[in-house]
Amino acid sequence: MGLASLSCVSAAGQAGHDGGGGEGRPEGGSSLCARYQGLSTSPQSFTLVQRVFDDFCVSCHTGAGANVDLSDGRAWMDLVNHAAPAAETCGGVLVVPGDPTSSYLYQKLTEPHPCAGAQMPIDELFTSAPLPPCITGIVGDWIAAGAPAAAPDGGDAGGG
Ligand code: HEC
Repeated sequence: MGLASLSCVSAAGQAGHDGGGGEGRPEGGSSLCARYQGLSTSPQSFTLVQRVFDDFCVSCHTGAGANVDLSDGRAWMDLVNHAAPAAETCGGVLVVPGDPTSSYLYQKLTEPHPCAGAQMPIDELFTSAPLPPCITGIVGDWIAAGAPAAAPDGGDAGGG
């Protein structure tokens, strides 16, 4: 066990002066990495992926206006084995369990020029503000692990 791709050397041992809310753009990688480091014990967990979404994505990707809803309780089912919205014409499937590089979500996070639109996340001026590998790796590891849902008890999911 032990997925290596989360390894993120951040010399600066400074974490956490962030307040949470509106402004504040990612500065460099190291403080962002440190922020997730203590939590990265089980990278397969969707809980950690959801935290990334909460921190960087849901400000735009939630509610009626969003093609893909990345908010808690919605994100997993909007992503896994789910086709990219029509606007992203070459998008394919957002999350292909077990295959990060084929997953359009991962491409949008890691490729400077994804096949449609911009690298995510973008800021309010629609300028890409790419996340460091320690964070995109959280998403990549989760997909590689088969994109499991958050619930530790594998058995509620009614309907279908
Ligand atoms: C400032 C607003 C904003 C933020 C923050 C943002 N996005 Fe987006 N996202 C957009 C817009 C606008 C589009 C459609 C245009 C494009 O694809 O570039 C989009 C498109 C996407 C798409 C393609 C599917 C779709 O909905 O069209 C994915 C996948 C995506 N974003 C993932 C993310 C992830 C993951 C994050 C967080 C790491 C993120 N985005 C953060 C605004 C945002």
